[in-house]
Amino acid sequence: MAKVIMFTLVGLALAFFKNHQSSYQKRFNAFREIVPVDLPKCNLVKGIDTGAEDLEILPNGLAFLSTGLKYPGIKSFEPNKPGKILLMDLNEEDPAVLELEIKGSNLDLSSFNPHGISTFTDEDGAVYLLVVNHPALDSTVEVFKFQEEEKSLLHLKTITHELLPSVNDIAAVGPESFYATNDHYFVDPYLRSWEIYLGIAWSYVVYYSPDEVHVVAEGFDFANGISISHDGKYVYIAELLAHKIHVYEKHANWTLTLLKSLDFNTLVDNISVDPATGDLWVGCHPNGMKIFFYDAKSPPGSEVLRIQNILTEEPQVTVVYAENGTVLQGTTVASVYKGKLLIGTVFHRALYCEL
Ligand SMILES: *[C@@H]1O[C@H](CO)[C@@H](O)[C@H](O)[C@H]1NC(C)=O
Ligand SMILES: *[C@@H]1O[C@H](CO)[C@@H](O)[C@H](O)[C@H]1NC(C)=O
Ligand SMILES: *[C@@H]1O[C@H](CO)[C@@H](O)[C@H](O)[C@H]1NC(C)=O
Repeated sequence: MAKVIMFTLVGLALAFFKNHQSSYQKRFNAFREIVPVDLPKCNLVKGIDTGAEDLEILPNGLAFLSTGLKYPGIKSFEPNKPGKILLMDLNEEDPAVLELEIKGSNLDLSSFNPHGISTFTDEDGAVYLLVVNHPALDSTVEVFKFQEEEKSLLHLKTITHELLPSVNDIAAVGPESFYATNDHYFVDPYLRSWEIYLGIAWSYVVYYSPDEVHVVAEGFDFANGISISHDGKYVYIAELLAHKIHVYEKHANWTLTLLKSLDFNTLVDNISVDPATGDLWVGCHPNGMKIFFYDAKSPPGSEVLRIQNILTEEPQVTVVYAENGTVLQGTTVASVYKGKLLIGTVFHRALYCEL
């Protein structure tokens, strides 16, 4: 009898892990092959070889990029060098990147590890850059003021909060206010790897301001990119391992109500909103196994989606660019400016294409 119970338990445990293994493979899109989709004129951006995890383009064509991310389980080609914020002027014919100097700061630059970034422009035209930072794998949000003349960033403030333990991306709504995605619940690396393996989906989204901080959405299987529509009425959230983009209505009191969710066959990372059309541009990982378990012989590929008319009954989804990793590995973000597309990656290069 004891033996029967024993075998039953072993059987149950095996079934449990088998189920989880198949759900894990599905969530990581382990078997997805890439069908290439090319753009006619693309150039690699000179000076970017260790990632451009996030980028944001201002209406005047100046682009900020975060580079040099160190993130548990993800490849880095320069694991011992601090990250940087780069600037690119997309009005130039062949734009070069320039490292922005960080000033006025008690910020430890040797452990600077920038991840998601977002800008806020106030009514006087002052530009604030909010940067998710992981010094020693901690999680902070750094507030900078952009000094255009000097091409520098003045560090103003470091924000930490118990509801911001593992921030991935932010969408700024003020110089010190933002929505932020926490991409996992557990901070302990061991518990966190189980959280990701089992797909516990405890990742959540927070609204932060100096006066109030609260959870505005929860239950995500790795909440990743977040972006706001230009009219400020909607918030878009990418749920990486569920392959979904959620559309929320944003209320005056900053709470969110879910309107709809779209399904994809790829791991959706960053969302940027097209300033001219309101379309969503999404950097994606077609095969998540390759991004989380890097193998130079079989590198992760890249995929960029464009979603038109997301608020209507029938949004159109187009694969604008897809590549097997020979040129570009691990896309996270794509953003447009005047008929051109700037594509960033977690740890690899950046590509600038004509549309
Ligand atoms: C892109 O994704 C990163 C995190 O994966 C995030 O920090 C960043 O803000 C996103 N960029 C845009 C333009 O949404
Ligand atoms: C926030 O505003 C929405 C819409 O008006 C309302 O339904 C909700 O109850 C409000 N929530 C809080 C916490 O005030
Ligand atoms: C990727 O695509 C390129 C060009 O289409 C091809 O030459 C190369 O062999 C492919 N690599 C892999 C690993 O499939």
